[in-house]
Amino acid sequence: MKRFVLAAIAAVALGGAAYADTIKVGVIGPFSGPFALQGKNFKAGIDAYMTVNGKKVGNDEVEVIYRDLPAADPAQSKSLAQELVVKEKVQYLAGFYFTPDAMAVTPILKQANVPMVIFNAATSAIVTKSPLVVRTSFTTWQTSTPIAKVAYDAGVKKVISVVSDYGPGVDAENAFKAGFEKQGGEVVQAIRMPLSTNDFSPIMQRIKDSGAQGVFAFLPSGPTTLGFVKAYNENGLKSAGIKLFAPGDLTQESDLPALGDAALGMQTTFHYAVSHDSPENKAFVAAAGKAIGNPAELTFPAVGAFDGMHVIYKMIEATGGKQDAQKAVDAVKGLSWVSPRGPVTIDPESRHITQNIYLREVAKGSDGKYYNKEIQTFEKQGDPGLAAAK
Ligand code: PHB
Repeated sequence: MKRFVLAAIAAVALGGAAYADTIKVGVIGPFSGPFALQGKNFKAGIDAYMTVNGKKVGNDEVEVIYRDLPAADPAQSKSLAQELVVKEKVQYLAGFYFTPDAMAVTPILKQANVPMVIFNAATSAIVTKSPLVVRTSFTTWQTSTPIAKVAYDAGVKKVISVVSDYGPGVDAENAFKAGFEKQGGEVVQAIRMPLSTNDFSPIMQRIKDSGAQGVFAFLPSGPTTLGFVKAYNENGLKSAGIKLFAPGDLTQESDLPALGDAALGMQTTFHYAVSHDSPENKAFVAAAGKAIGNPAELTFPAVGAFDGMHVIYKMIEATGGKQDAQKAVDAVKGLSWVSPRGPVTIDPESRHITQNIYLREVAKGSDGKYYNKEIQTFEKQGDPGLAAAK
């Protein structure tokens, strides 16, 4: 008895090493409002990962604490992150759908001794703002560079670009322009529209007036991408033969039923398609489809979250559950695994994910359902935007 008590005291003195700790992960994302489906996909990815891999890492129990940030709101993002760190004592911060929300939190990571694992926010520069940021999603440089070649090879030589006027939009515009000019194409006009834009008819008119043969577009996935693709169709651009080229944000699977034939044949480049044909993806879709309830709602933020949890589990394992943000991040530099999207690696220098980017075409299956059909693979793509971000 006495020996047991002594052992218990010693264990407490050693930081409770003999006992199971609860490791808290704070996840910030849009869980209500117009982008709630994107946040729901974060949760589905997390739940799927924890169902398949269990809730424990070694002796430690992983607990996820959610905070809702319905729209891009950097000040609110920072205060939620501070509350998670100070009050909830989270050891990890994760999620972040919108770039400004991730950017606002990078200055607090070092002092808080907390790594940030980004499940979505896609502006190249974010990883340069703190050595404690790791990203498991994509960048718009990564996804928009290959579509420039696709557009040129399709015989389109003059393009107008239209993007949301904030980080990932500006990156997408620059990536497309660099890639397209390298091929010999010309971007005749570059339109940046406020993030809040939801009436796209005037933009469609400007596209028609520009005389371009094609349009390159980026908007963050959600109600606005749905509105944009619908407007492209309804304003007669599609029937006029003005081709639309975009990263896959514009044809996320959960929007395809509402887009219907409007999106049929549309080509996009992206890191993940729900239809990706691999055993890892079949297992993921089964688990995440169950977690989300309605599998038709499954879309890319779920895979960013699933892989993000994989990274966090590896970090917890490497630190033995102790709070050491730098050690945690160092442990995943160069980490490779087979994701539902295909083979991936955390680039040891940038801490951003290296992955295949796929050219996909919206097709209709024999079951009458629309899907992104992968037709070409651009292998092992790093982030071409990091040089530009420095
Ligand atoms: C971002 O804000 O970084 C962002 C959001 C949604 C996307 C892509 C990028 O689909």
